[in-house]
Amino acid sequence: MILGIETSCDETAAALVTAAGEMRSNVVSSQADLHARFGGVVPEIASRRHLELVTPVVREALDRADATLDDVEVVAVTRGPGLVGALLVGLSAAKALAWSRGLPLVPVDHLHGHVASLYLAPDPVEPPFLCLLASGGHTLLLDVRDHAGYRVLGTSIDDAAGEAFDKGARLLGLGYPGGAAIDALAQEGDAEAFSFPVASLEGDDFSFSGVKTALLYKVRDLGDEADRRKADLAASYQRAIVRALIERTQAAAEREGLETIAVVGGVAANSELRGALSDARFAPLPLCTDNAAMIASAGRYGSRLPYPRFLALDAYASRA
Ligand code: KG4
Ligand code: ZN
Repeated sequence: MILGIETSCDETAAALVTAAGEMRSNVVSSQADLHARFGGVVPEIASRRHLELVTPVVREALDRADATLDDVEVVAVTRGPGLVGALLVGLSAAKALAWSRGLPLVPVDHLHGHVASLYLAPDPVEPPFLCLLASGGHTLLLDVRDHAGYRVLGTSIDDAAGEAFDKGARLLGLGYPGGAAIDALAQEGDAEAFSFPVASLEGDDFSFSGVKTALLYKVRDLGDEADRRKADLAASYQRAIVRALIERTQAAAEREGLETIAVVGGVAANSELRGALSDARFAPLPLCTDNAAMIASAGRYGSRLPYPRFLALDAYASRA
């Protein structure tokens, strides 16, 4: 079995996955409550909390899989991109475990991890496919031809889609993280009530900073009425983001001749997006937001580094 460890942001996660891609356990301890009162993730607080949680979370993953460390053959761990201090906690824990048990270590790119959430049993998505990766930190269109990697076709030139959801939620007083809250409130609103333009760029790139500003101005214009129109604002705002995601994704898939479209990352949990791209393959709901099962899954396709080579691995903050 492969032990996956993920600590790139504010989720401390560990999971056990078999070589065949069966998920034996998937434990995620979210620190969201800890960061909510600051309106976003505070890196230093995240690192400290990972330090407290990483060992109990690994234990819990072993317990739930009815396994011990004797059953672990490989350790897979997120190396980046993410908060460097947070990543270092998981990476150090993984190195210590691999060293003490004489196991190889596979460093995993967090974004490849999101894609690999599609490769788990019982119904894995097989390459080739066009993948939309939309999370709190990234919005990418990927051309996926094999399990080991991908080619980047387009990316957001400013805010990520999840970030746009989070910033919009903050403007509407819905708390942090706000994607799920907007999704829920939008169900009660009229998506055609307001028009929020999303910049359309050349090629496969996205831009989401303008739509957030449009919402800000609309909330200001409405004044006292904004609170009463909150559901309409949420629904219209969500509609604008989802439309932009869908248009770009479908156009890229058509141009690249890729018949299958897949969607991963936190925003893949969005109900309007799931409904609108009904032919697409979506990561299972519990595997959309950050988790370690996807990291263990990606670990099946990465190179296994022996001791002492893995000791030299460092974390990285930005997309490689
Ligand atoms: O993949 P993820 O857990 O973290 C990163 O790697 O960034 O994604 C988290 C993002 C947050 O921005 C959150 O607001 C968004 O995913 N999100 C959603 C929904 N659930 C989570 N956005 C829209 N609709 C949702 N239902
Ligand atoms: Zn993520």
